[in-house]
Amino acid sequence: MQYQEAYQRLELYGQTHLLQYYDTLSSEQQAALLQQIADMDFSVLERAMQKETPRGKLEPLGACTISEIAEKQAEYRKIGLDAIRSGSVGAVLLAGGQGSRLGCSGPKGVFQIGVNNDLTIFECLFRNLMEVTAEAGVAVPLFIMTSETNDAETKTFLEKKQFFGYPKDFVYFFVQEMAPVVDADGKILLETKSRMAVSPNGNGGWFSSMQRAGLLDVLEQKHITWLNVFAVDNVLQRMADPCFIGATIAANCTCGSKVVAKANPDEKVGVLCLEDGKPSIVEYFEMTDDMRNLREPDGTLTYRYGVILNYLFRVDQLCKTLHCNLPLHRAFKSVACLTEDGTTVKSEKPNGYKLETLVLDMVHMQENCLLYEVDREREFAPVKNAEGPDSIETARELLKKNGVTL
Ligand code: UTP
Repeated sequence: MQYQEAYQRLELYGQTHLLQYYDTLSSEQQAALLQQIADMDFSVLERAMQKETPRGKLEPLGACTISEIAEKQAEYRKIGLDAIRSGSVGAVLLAGGQGSRLGCSGPKGVFQIGVNNDLTIFECLFRNLMEVTAEAGVAVPLFIMTSETNDAETKTFLEKKQFFGYPKDFVYFFVQEMAPVVDADGKILLETKSRMAVSPNGNGGWFSSMQRAGLLDVLEQKHITWLNVFAVDNVLQRMADPCFIGATIAANCTCGSKVVAKANPDEKVGVLCLEDGKPSIVEYFEMTDDMRNLREPDGTLTYRYGVILNYLFRVDQLCKTLHCNLPLHRAFKSVACLTEDGTTVKSEKPNGYKLETLVLDMVHMQENCLLYEVDREREFAPVKNAEGPDSIETARELLKKNGVTL
């Protein structure tokens, strides 16, 4: 792409300020900037500035509870194990995030959760997955989503650790796309004089990124019909859980979601409910006080079930929605950007809006969803923050309670 063409492209989106230092750059830097402009999907800017569509009619949605699951445990387990053994289940690890709240510079999965022992988040997850594959007697294809920023480091780390004993042939990597970082007026920030500030485009694009990486062919060849998608940062995460898979299949649902009963009305988790008759996740900040505090006659919260980013999707249903644009969310985060004196500084405070699609919005595109309740003490130990709630300390406590030696 030549300068003139890049300028015209930027003009369409009100972003010509990105070329303000062009004349001061070396020819390599100029070429790199023009290439970045050529590769960027600027249409996300328009979507990001669109007003959010108002919510439809919200209604509570019940779950398959822990006690109901216990009663049917053997039945569900068998259905799930049969599905895994027949090769129809794949797992997708969402590991493209930046962990800005945790303050880690590399991939979150390499974060040390061990105290006296070497124990990374990745190892916790592989151990949990291997409990299932040992029981099933077969490995589950594992698709790992990384981002441009952490792809090389993630691969090098996992290869060095020999995937903690997981068969390498069952692991596939794919890289998610990047999106521009903007200021409050929708202007893209510069990271340096020759580079736009960009960040991974959220965890909602994982299926389209798999498609771009050619992995839908792998799904087809291997006859994978279910994908269990989960976050990297829950060290108690149970992947390809046979009972969860079995319960979703037995309920004849096209989608399943692990949920926990909210600890209190103000807990910061998204709640799974019905919106205009379809499953939908309402984020904690979208809930009104009334909705948050509404209770059933027995005292339990009406909007009770929080999601923990562990979903089961049917591949044929995902394919049907591939062409749909997911809503774009703006997340105010601290990002490295160019300062007035020409240096790049990572701000301590949030200073830019990352543009992200979210996997939770995919749930609303499904016909129905089984809410599968799990015990938070056994399955929910998120590592989001350096300290306080959902932090390294709280996760370590929960790991210890579950008998993990740290
Ligand atoms: P979070 O929403 O907690 O984001 O990710 P994050 O980037 O890890 O952390 P913060 O917000 O910067 O502190 C939830 C899950 O989604 C993945 C993360 O790796 C984590 O497993 N994710 C998030 C992606 O794979 N890509 C993204 O662009 C964002």
